[in-house]
Amino acid sequence: VWAQVQQGPPDAILGITEAFKKDSNPQKINLGVGAYRDDKGKPYVLPSVKTAEGKVIQQNLDKEYAGITGVPAFTKAAARLAYGPDSAPLNEGRIAITQSISGTGALRIGGAFLQRHYPGAKAIYIPTPSWANHKAVFLDSGLEVKQYRYYNKDTIGLDFDGMVEDIKNMPKGSMVLLHACAHNPTGIDPTEQQWRAISDAMKEGGHFSFFDMAYQGFASGDTDKDAFALRHFLAEGHQPCLAQSFAKNMGLYGERVGAFSIVCMSQEEKARVDSQIKILVRPLYSNPPVHGARVASTILNDSALNKQWLGEVKGMADRIIKMRALLKENLEKLGSKHNWDHITDQIGMFAYTGLKPEQMTKLAEEHSVYATKDGRISVAGITSDNVGRLAEAIHKITG
Ligand code: LMR
Repeated sequence: VWAQVQQGPPDAILGITEAFKKDSNPQKINLGVGAYRDDKGKPYVLPSVKTAEGKVIQQNLDKEYAGITGVPAFTKAAARLAYGPDSAPLNEGRIAITQSISGTGALRIGGAFLQRHYPGAKAIYIPTPSWANHKAVFLDSGLEVKQYRYYNKDTIGLDFDGMVEDIKNMPKGSMVLLHACAHNPTGIDPTEQQWRAISDAMKEGGHFSFFDMAYQGFASGDTDKDAFALRHFLAEGHQPCLAQSFAKNMGLYGERVGAFSIVCMSQEEKARVDSQIKILVRPLYSNPPVHGARVASTILNDSALNKQWLGEVKGMADRIIKMRALLKENLEKLGSKHNWDHITDQIGMFAYTGLKPEQMTKLAEEHSVYATKDGRISVAGITSDNVGRLAEAIHKITG
């Protein structure tokens, strides 16, 4: 029956983990997938998560199905975290929100909702480059995917003029995906002033914004600061939709905890949107898993635990910042002739090194250093122990 099925290529990001696992070099380094590691290179379960799990288990809850849109105490708290406690649409009860299978699931629900209900053209613009899975998620949702300029390879920085020009040239009422903070893969975010101009350009074109916020807290260590773009757009009268993930900021990767929300004009509109989200989710996966959402909800709804968690997010963000500085310092000590300022200028989990695909292949084949072909390295995989060896490997392949 399956004789016609073609062998597909490995996943651009998760395929790297598969290659890493096959390497027998004890000094191998995995800088592929964006998953936080402690300074010993070990996965990190946040202490606040452990405490919250204990509390959830103590409650001896049943394992009944959640509603189609998930655990209400979780979605309510997730919306408050993103939009802020003073958010008018939140306090006026006009944000439709559903729990999702982490950020990817949120994007997929969003893509499917827009494909069905967005009144304009069914194309979504994503930045060049964008997270390697964005295109597939939206194509599989039945949308057409187009791109706008974002990264300037000459400056290894933001192509702000190109981005704004492209937004201005889009057909009126276009859908535009924006990375709320800690742009993946480049680690390059617009400044607050630049976000203001982007918001103006989006407004001028009557465009619809879809924020992907997979790293709230990870960029600056401050969840409010990282939500600036989303909150500014709201203050400016945009009606965005939003994909949230708790994979990185709570380290809940495999628990798949996320949310998708849409800002509506009224409670009545929200009720209609809610009903259509349910119609969409039910045949996809019926309803979401409860454990991770209960853990996240316990953290978000308990003020002491919430405070502790914010400290732990900052701790992770700070370790990443420290590793950026160490990598740059080590490259300079080795006498690298290249300018590595971008490693410390960029933020979030990733550094976009500017290394070419051939150089990334060499890093893997000759030095057992694994990262994506586009030159992105997950700084979260760097440790005090491996940074020296990593710098030597990069120095060798860059001459
Ligand atoms: C990444 O970009 O490495 C993460 O978002 C993990 C993933 O699912 O790709």
